[in-house]
Amino acid sequence: MKKESFHFSYMILLLTIASHFLTSTQLRCHEDERYALLEFKATFFNRKPWCCDNDFSGKPPKIESWNASTGEIQSDCCSWDGVECDKVSGHMISLDLSCSCLSGKINSNTSLFRLLRLRSLHLAMNDFNCQIPPAIGNLGSLRHLDFSHSNFMGHIPHSLSNLSKLIHLDLSTNMLNGTILPLENLTQLTHLDLSNNSLNGTIPTYFGDTLKLNHLDLGSNVLTGEIPSFLGNLVQLKYLSLGNNELMGEIPSSLGNLVQLTNLDLSYNQLTGKIPSSIGNLVQLTDINLCSNQLVGEIPLSFQNLEELRGLTLQSNQLSGEIPSSLGKLTQLTDIILSYNHFHGAIPSTILRLQGLDVLDLSSNNLSGTINFDVFLEAESLSVLKLSSNKLSLIVETNITRQFLTLGLGSCNLNGFPKFLQDQDSLLVLDLSHNNISGQVPEWFLNLSIEFLSHLNLSGNFLTSFAQDPIIFKWKSLLDADLSFNELQGSIPIPTLEIKNYFISNNKLSGGISPLICNLSSIQMIDLSGNNLTGFLPQCLSKLSGTLKVMSLHSNNFIGKIPQLNGNFCMLSMIDLSYNKLQGPLPRLLRSCNSLEFLNFANNHIRDVFPSWLSSLPRLKVLLLQYNRFHGLIGEPGDGIDFPMLQIIDLSQNNFSGSLPSKYFKHWIAMKVSKTYPSSYIGDAIMRWKFLFPNVTYDYSMSVIAKGIHMNYSKIQEYLTLIDFSSNNFSGAIPETIGSLKQLELLNLSNNMLSGSVPSFLVNLMNLEALDLSQNHLSGEIPLELTQLTSLEVFNVSYNRLTGPIPQSRQFATFENNSYKGNSGLCGNPLSRKCRDLKASPPSSSTSKEDQDSGSAMELDWKIVCMGYASGFVIGVVLGNTLIIGRRAENLVKNFGRRKERRRR
Ligand SMILES: *[C@@H]1O[C@H](CO)[C@@H](O)[C@H](O)[C@H]1NC(C)=O
Ligand SMILES: *[C@@H]1O[C@H](CO)[C@@H](O)[C@H](O)[C@H]1NC(C)=O
Ligand SMILES: *[C@@H]1O[C@H](CO)[C@@H](O)[C@H](O)[C@H]1NC(C)=O
Ligand SMILES: *[C@@H]1O[C@H](CO)[C@@H](O)[C@H](O)[C@H]1NC(C)=O
Ligand SMILES: *[C@@H]1O[C@H](CO)[C@@H](O)[C@H](O)[C@H]1NC(C)=O
Ligand SMILES: *[C@@H]1O[C@H](CO)[C@@H](O)[C@H](O)[C@H]1NC(C)=O
Ligand SMILES: *[C@@H]1O[C@H](CO)[C@@H](O)[C@H](O)[C@H]1NC(C)=O
Ligand SMILES: *[C@@H]1O[C@H](CO)[C@@H](O)[C@H](O)[C@H]1NC(C)=O
Repeated sequence: MKKESFHFSYMILLLTIASHFLTSTQLRCHEDERYALLEFKATFFNRKPWCCDNDFSGKPPKIESWNASTGEIQSDCCSWDGVECDKVSGHMISLDLSCSCLSGKINSNTSLFRLLRLRSLHLAMNDFNCQIPPAIGNLGSLRHLDFSHSNFMGHIPHSLSNLSKLIHLDLSTNMLNGTILPLENLTQLTHLDLSNNSLNGTIPTYFGDTLKLNHLDLGSNVLTGEIPSFLGNLVQLKYLSLGNNELMGEIPSSLGNLVQLTNLDLSYNQLTGKIPSSIGNLVQLTDINLCSNQLVGEIPLSFQNLEELRGLTLQSNQLSGEIPSSLGKLTQLTDIILSYNHFHGAIPSTILRLQGLDVLDLSSNNLSGTINFDVFLEAESLSVLKLSSNKLSLIVETNITRQFLTLGLGSCNLNGFPKFLQDQDSLLVLDLSHNNISGQVPEWFLNLSIEFLSHLNLSGNFLTSFAQDPIIFKWKSLLDADLSFNELQGSIPIPTLEIKNYFISNNKLSGGISPLICNLSSIQMIDLSGNNLTGFLPQCLSKLSGTLKVMSLHSNNFIGKIPQLNGNFCMLSMIDLSYNKLQGPLPRLLRSCNSLEFLNFANNHIRDVFPSWLSSLPRLKVLLLQYNRFHGLIGEPGDGIDFPMLQIIDLSQNNFSGSLPSKYFKHWIAMKVSKTYPSSYIGDAIMRWKFLFPNVTYDYSMSVIAKGIHMNYSKIQEYLTLIDFSSNNFSGAIPETIGSLKQLELLNLSNNMLSGSVPSFLVNLMNLEALDLSQNHLSGEIPLELTQLTSLEVFNVSYNRLTGPIPQSRQFATFENNSYKGNSGLCGNPLSRKCRDLKASPPSSSTSKEDQDSGSAMELDWKIVCMGYASGFVIGVVLGNTLIIGRRAENLVKNFGRRKERRRR
């Protein structure tokens, strides 16, 4: 390093001497400026060998041509690549180092900030990995500043607001955080792009003063608050993007003043209310994107004025009404995307006559009617057609030669594979799910678009077989295949080796898992559940753990040991092997799967001790081991973190013994802290989902994510906290530490050998909705304090040795006989035994046989029967109330969704 800089100074010296012999007309370049550039070059001596620039053009990065050697051409820094000087003064006015493979930090001492006359500075597409130096504020002549895609982080420096001559400011696609700086002095600004950063806070009010703005992009940040209505003052705006933030409130109708606007993007926010009809004033609009908000109402009639409109993107809102046939007047339309809304009625024939229409996505609405496929051929450019998940009936009879890229024909009442598919050679996406297609999959179907088909959905039909068994699919590009919910028999079809997501659950497949499955080197999600598969799980499955995120093999007849994992590399976030006949211990290498969120080994024959070695998994939320042969003491946790994210644990119906794990209860943080985490959890899940499916073509995932946002099941899953240790041999008292699990909603300790009292500290579990302590050896009175548990809907202490009066206030006024049965010492409502009679009747130690029988029929048995997932996160935990105590438990299950929703608001 030292040697280099010495060498460098030496060259500069030579150069300085040399320049004395040259006349000033020959050398236009100013000394100090050249020096500044060479110093800058030296700072970035360690450039990347390749980057965006030379990668594509094969040229060396610009900065390589900056050279201190003598010789007139090279010495004139005005002629260097990326440098521009003023023709008269010779001062450097523009420096373009975009894509120059620069890698390293710049700070306020960096020589570039001495180029005070610069009007234009482009440093985009480099790797600076530091904050934007405050010295940027020295360059008071700057008109154009582009620091995009350059790995800048931290806050935007305040000094930037000194650059009052700025016209064009682009800081997009960095890692900038903090709030958007005050920009009131940047009165000349016409182009402002701060998109793709992590800026938070609200949209600043002072944009209202920069009236010349014509391009404003604040998209993909974490901005909150409402869209300020005075944005409507920026009447020069042509481009406005606020998409992908966390903005709330209504779309201000003042935006209708922006009559020059060509692009409006408010997508991926939480905007509510109706689309203001003033938007119809924006007659220059070519693209409007309002997708993924919570907008309601109809598409305003005024939209028929948007004659320049090419892209209309409104999917994933709650828009309703009919699709206006006046959209057919917008002859420039190429993309109409209205999916995931509540539109009803028929598809207006007017939009099918739009000659430029390329993409028509109407899936997941309430559209109805019988429609002949011919009508879609009128739009001559149509190549993406998505109609799935409506109430449409499609008639396909003619020979169709048009080549499509995407056909979404799910839920279209089709009775067979449309013949014209035979000639589709360029289809990328095909959805025929939820039709009435039955029988064998024809041979020709397996040859359609062999080169290109990448997403195939045939789920929810009545398909029985393939022409061959076993079959290996020939589609070379297949990435996602969903064949679940059919009646497919025979062995598992083998997909393309590059497949990422393969779902073939709920069929009648039999035989074992072919070792060929272990060659799926890119697989991320595999679901073979609900078939009749048998045999051992092949050991080679461990090879998949480097890519596999979701492995669902539940509800089959697999036997033998659970395969080991590749401990070096485990991406798994969900494993469901429940409802099989698997034996042996759990694979210890699971502990290396740091992404694990969900583990289900329930209903097998697993003989093992409590997997305390899983306790360091930082994300584990759900651990289900019920109905196995787990045994022994749970023991004490280690020194580290213990199940910090655990929300649901079910150990019921095993042979665990000893006392309840009181020390573990201390550590289960997710059951203690108040639930601020779910919203970020949703955010996280959606982000990951976007990452996995950047271009939303896979309908199964789409509907799942729709649930993730709107539906009850997901509400259960996001929030539910549950401990079920029932039907083991736990003994001793109920430990006080359980009182610290303040977020606990369901607690079942029934059918053990617990003794001592019903503790009054249970009153700390203020969120408890069901408490089952039945069939233990608990004694003493029911503490009066428990009446403060106002969320309690199910309470069962039957078949213990409790005595004394039953509390009567609040929730306790609603519990029935069954809650208290089999405690001969209890008295008061709802039991027929009056408390004053108590002393007369001697407490009996054993209950009659009759009571026992009816007791077990009344046992509360909440069971998790079904788990769903999307893109590696757990999505639907469904409570199955197989055995019910009256109606209340049913209500409990039904109410979960609604209650959680209320709580969130
Ligand atoms: C100057 O550039 C030329 C060609 O780009 C190169 O051959 C020469 O070694 C460079 N001189 C110095 C001192 O870097
Ligand atoms: C800037 O230069 C001064 C003097 O050369 C030095 O003291 C200071 O540490 C430098 N600052 C940074 C951030 O490198
Ligand atoms: C902003 O980013 C910097 C640099 O990455 C980081 O050190 C700082 O903690 C971040 N600040 C906030 C508030 O996130
Ligand atoms: C804007 O300029 C005025 C006058 O030069 C100055 O007082 C004020 O501090 C500047 N505002 C910002 C945010 O830099
Ligand atoms: C921005 O984010 C940081 C870090 O999360 C937080 O401390 C700060 O309060 C946020 N600012 C605003 C205005 O929301
Ligand atoms: C459909 O087209 C095929 C060739 O693509 C042809 O053999 C067949 O006769 C046509 N059928 C009708 C009904 O036009
Ligand atoms: C599952 O397969 C076994 C034979 O392996 C067969 O006896 C049984 O009937 C099958 N069950 C179903 C539901 O198909
Ligand atoms: C879909 O995503 C892939 C990469 O995941 C990309 O190459 C392709 O261009 C995208 N297609 C569309 C239509 O955006």
